[in-house]
Amino acid sequence: MLKVAIVGYRAQGSNHHAPSFAGLADCQIVAVCDIVEERARAGADRYGAPAYTSMDEMLQTEEIDIVDIPVGEGYRYDLVMKCLGRGLHVFTEKPLAGAEGQYRIQLSDVPLAQEMIDEWQHHDTHFGICFCLHASRNVKWAKQVIQSGKLGGLRQIYARTALGSWNHLIDMVRFLSGEVEEVFAYTDDAEMGNKVACLKFESGAVGTLAVSQDLGLQFQIKWIGELGEATIDDIAGTAYWHLHNSHDVTHWSDARQLDGGTYGTQFEDLIAEFVSSIRESRPFVADGWAGLRHMEIDAAITESIRTGKAIPVRRYMPDKGHTILTLT
Ligand SMILES: NC(=O)c1ccc[n+]([C@@H]2O[C@H](COP(=O)([O-])OP(=O)(O)OC[C@H]3O[C@@H](n4cnc5c(N)ncnc54)[C@H](O)[C@@H]3O)[C@@H](O)[C@H]2O)c1
Repeated sequence: MLKVAIVGYRAQGSNHHAPSFAGLADCQIVAVCDIVEERARAGADRYGAPAYTSMDEMLQTEEIDIVDIPVGEGYRYDLVMKCLGRGLHVFTEKPLAGAEGQYRIQLSDVPLAQEMIDEWQHHDTHFGICFCLHASRNVKWAKQVIQSGKLGGLRQIYARTALGSWNHLIDMVRFLSGEVEEVFAYTDDAEMGNKVACLKFESGAVGTLAVSQDLGLQFQIKWIGELGEATIDDIAGTAYWHLHNSHDVTHWSDARQLDGGTYGTQFEDLIAEFVSSIRESRPFVADGWAGLRHMEIDAAITESIRTGKAIPVRRYMPDKGHTILTLT
């Protein structure tokens, strides 16, 4: 049985993370910690575990294998660093840092994410990021179609999103298309809720990434290869592909996924996959490297908006860096 501690029991912790870990047969929630005592107590009561208002005290008292840290980006660094430093498995939310919030990632935020990676690399543990679209079945299906080679090599990618999935979309574009070499971005909005970035990939492919505050559709990705193209429509949505020289469209469908209420199952599936990857000592698809690479691209986009210039995406490559771009 893996002993799991929850640190941060508000929206994400109480609605998604804790229930997902608790639902796994091989996990047990052994402590719930929140600096707001009534939240810690609410979680502790629900899972029959002790409540803590201090993570330090919890770490000193309890025997723990996995620390789940679903807190906002402003609180993340100290908590994650302490747990990684103790050699514990850590699962946390995205983005890894963000002094000005999750939609305005700055170059100055990136070193914090690098430090987390450095700490993690000292230990043989798993560091997972809640990029839950990796568990989305339409995304998995599209990735398999792309990997099969039937669409040819990537030439262009177009991705658009409402504000809430901005961080996720950057991660997804990288997951489906490879490393981004350079970005050029624009916004008409000081809050950056309406922005667009041109992307140049290492492979030579190009793409755009656009966000608007008030889109009805949560997100869409069009992946265009030399021979055909694949489209992913929305969280808990659909996907389809076709060859350029054919009108035959192949749709993916899954009754469970098409039910909008299944948004929560992505958390369950991703967390189940995280635990399995620990058990089986294999890499986790949305690991710390995915968290860092998201930060590097997002920060370059903000910097391009600030300077009006194209900005190279500088990748931190200790020991070349591990990059998982394939399904595990
Ligand atoms: N993966 C997704 O699809 C998804 C969806 C929504 C939000 N998010 C992410 O989740 C995060 C926000 O989640 P939230 O709204 O639940 O977070 P929040 O920051 O509002 O709440 C976190 C909880 O952690 C507690 N906390 C803060 N510091 C603590 C500490 N030192 N020790 C113990 N507890 C502490 C707070 O009291 C609070 O109860 C953001 O980073 C956001 O980007 C991800």
